[in-house]
Parts: sequence; C-alpha cells; structure tokens
Amino acid sequence: MTSCWLLAAALGVVMGPVSSLRVTGFKVPSIALIGSDVELDCSFSAARNAKLYSVKWYQNHEEFYRYMFSERTPVTAFTRPGINVDLARSNNSRVTLKSVNFNTSATFRCEVSADEPDFETVYRRANMTVIQVSEDGPLINGLRDQYELNEQLNVNCTSPSITPNIGTHQTKLSWQLNRQTVDGQTIQMQSADPSQSVINLRLILTERHFDPKTGLLRLNCSFTVGRPTAIYFNRSLELSAALMHPTTVLDPRPTQRSYKSKDSRSASYSSGGRRQFRLSLVTFLAVIPYTLWTCCNPC
Ligand SMILES: *[C@@H]1O[C@H](CO)[C@@H](O)[C@H](O)[C@H]1NC(C)=O
Ligand SMILES: *[C@@H]1O[C@H](CO)[C@@H](O)[C@H](O)[C@H]1NC(C)=O
Ligand SMILES: *[C@@H]1O[C@H](CO)[C@@H](O)[C@H](O)[C@H]1NC(C)=O
Ligand SMILES: *[C@@H]1O[C@H](CO)[C@@H](O)[C@H](O)[C@H]1NC(C)=O
Ligand SMILES: *[C@@H]1O[C@H](CO)[C@@H](O)[C@H](O)[C@H]1NC(C)=O
Ligand SMILES: *[C@@H]1O[C@H](CO)[C@@H](O)[C@H](O)[C@H]1NC(C)=O
Repeated sequence: MTSCWLLAAALGVVMGPVSSLRVTGFKVPSIALIGSDVELDCSFSAARNAKLYSVKWYQNHEEFYRYMFSERTPVTAFTRPGINVDLARSNNSRVTLKSVNFNTSATFRCEVSADEPDFETVYRRANMTVIQVSEDGPLINGLRDQYELNEQLNVNCTSPSITPNIGTHQTKLSWQLNRQTVDGQTIQMQSADPSQSVINLRLILTERHFDPKTGLLRLNCSFTVGRPTAIYFNRSLELSAALMHPTTVLDPRPTQRSYKSKDSRSASYSSGGRRQFRLSLVTFLAVIPYTLWTCCNPC
C-alpha cells in the first residue's frame, strides 16, 4: 500500500500537475521576404474556469509584445531592432510585424501564462529568417531561336541569388516543357556563387516537343523558395524556340511514324536525318536480295 502511494507521488513529481493550458496554434513563417509584413500566430486553450494572465512574444530573449488580460490597456509593444509591431493588426493571438528587415531574423517565442494561483506558463518557438531575392533570374542560358529535329537542346537555368544564403534545401528550380514538368533529364549543376543554384536540361528534340500548330516549343524555368506546403516566393521565366523546318512536323505521310520512333533514340542524326534514313533504308532493302543472291550462287 505504501509503495503504491510512493509510486503515485513519484509519478506526480515526474509528470507535474495535469496541464490544461496549451498552445493550440502556432505559426511563425520560417522565411519572410524583406520589406513584407509578417503575421505571427499563437492561439491557446485553457480550462473553462482558468484565468489567463498574459501572452508575451520574444525575439531571441528580448520581449517585444505583451498582452495583459486583466489590464485596461492590455497591449504593450517594445522597440527592438527589426521589430515594428502593427498594433491595429495585433491582438492576444496574433502579432503583425510591419516591413521586416535583416535585423528581424531571430528565434521567436510565444509564451502564454495563467493567472494565480500557479501562474502556469506554456510556450512555443520557431526561427524566422528574412531574405532578399535578387531582381534577376531565373535566367535561361543556351536556348537558341531555332532548332532542327534531332538536335540537342542543352540549356541552363540560374536562380536569383538569395541574401543571406539559406542553402539549397529550401529552394527549388524546375523545368517545364510545353507546360509539362520535365524530370528525367534535369541535372543539378555546381554554381560558382553559393547563393544561386543552376540546373541543366539536355534532350534530343523530336516532333513531340513542338506544338503541331505553331511549331514552337515553350521552355519554362520556375524558381520557388519554401516547401510545397508553404511557398514564400516564386518567379518563372518562359521562352520559346521554333522548329526550323515546320513542314516536317506537319507531314502526314505514314513514313513519319517509323522515322520518329527511330530518331527519338538516336542522337547522331542531324539536319539531313530524314534523307539519310531514307537512303539507308533503300540501301538496306537492296542489300538483302544481293546477299541472298551471292550466298545462293557461290560461283
Ligand atoms: C486577432 O486577430 C485576428 C486577425 O485579425 C483574428 O482572426 C482573431 O480572431 C483575433 N483574435 C482575438 C482573440 O481577437
Ligand atoms: C539593424 O540593427 C543595427 C543595430 O541596431 C542598426 O545599426 C541597423 O541600421 C539595422 N538595420 C536595419 C536594416 O534596420
Ligand atoms: C533555430 O536556429 C538555431 C541555429 O541558428 C538552432 O540551433 C535552433 O535549434 C533553431 N530553433 C528552432 C526552434 O528551430
Ligand atoms: C551550363 O553550366 C555549366 C556549369 O556552370 C557550364 O559548364 C555550361 O557551359 C553551361 N551550359 C550552357 C548551355 O550555358
Ligand atoms: C506563385 O505566385 C503566384 C502569385 O505571386 C501564385 O498565384 C502562384 O500560385 C504561386 N505558385 C506556386 C507554385 O506557389
Ligand atoms: C511559365 O512562366 C510564366 C512567366 O514567364 C508563368 O506565367 C507561367 O505560369 C509559367 N508556367 C508554368 C507551367 O510554370
């Protein structure tokens, strides 16, 4: 019996009193664009009879916003480098920062406290980094105005640069060809500037890469900062290139099919490919009867 009470007491020490005060919603963007307004959310729930005391926000360890539930003017905002609270858009569950800058970047902490008797306090925290994205980019290099069938498309796309360098795991460059995502042939390249990323795309152009009506291919490079669930920035560039002899695309003759399937696997054909292929087909067809004839008539 005593051991049972001891166990209960020990558990009580380890787990503390059963908590009813909780932060239920907490949202601090991990990235914010310089000059933008940023909303920080911190909502909470407490037991029905519990009395709340305060909500406090900290930038690193410095308090910059305080909401006191029992005071007549509940809000106090403190001046901090990079912190400019928009009081009209702030309350006990949201703080809006006006025009953030590099000094804003920090660990943000929201702390909610209950009133007497135990002043229970709960908190959540997260980091926010303010970034600046350069005006240029994404830039596409190496795209020509015109291509022949079976030529190689070899292009690079360079992202804008980001200050400070947040690494490449939070940024993404991707290709779209005729509004379809291209994956297979995309290669991540080493960039001279670590705040930029570069991707390369190489493929052999076939008829299916060009719009049959316009004879154009549309190449798009998209740049995003963030994850699919939280995109903080995106910009893309679309360029187009023309097929040099569009009539070959529109050629309805049935020979087109065999020509296409052969060439989509072969990189060595150049502009005269169609004629060369016809020639080799003729040669091949002529070789069979000749071989048969020489084999069957050794003398
Ligand atoms: C605080 O402001 C936000 C945004 O204006 C609003 O959605 C929310 O209901 C407000 N919360 C309280 C407790 O007034
Ligand atoms: C950042 O803070 C430093 C020191 O407080 C100040 O000198 C500087 O002007 C601030 N920069 C910006 C962009 O506010
Ligand atoms: C914030 O960033 C620092 C490093 O700059 C890291 O040590 C810390 O764990 C991060 N905090 C959170 C809550 O992600
Ligand atoms: C693509 O980038 C790589 C590496 O920076 C470079 O060697 C190559 O010449 C570039 N290609 C084009 C088409 O610009
Ligand atoms: C890119 O940003 C625009 C607005 O600037 C938005 O409408 C669009 O949905 C964004 N795209 C992605 C992939 O997030
Ligand atoms: C391609 O880029 C343009 C801007 O140049 C953009 O408006 C369009 O949405 C992009 N398309 C895709 C599929 O990303």
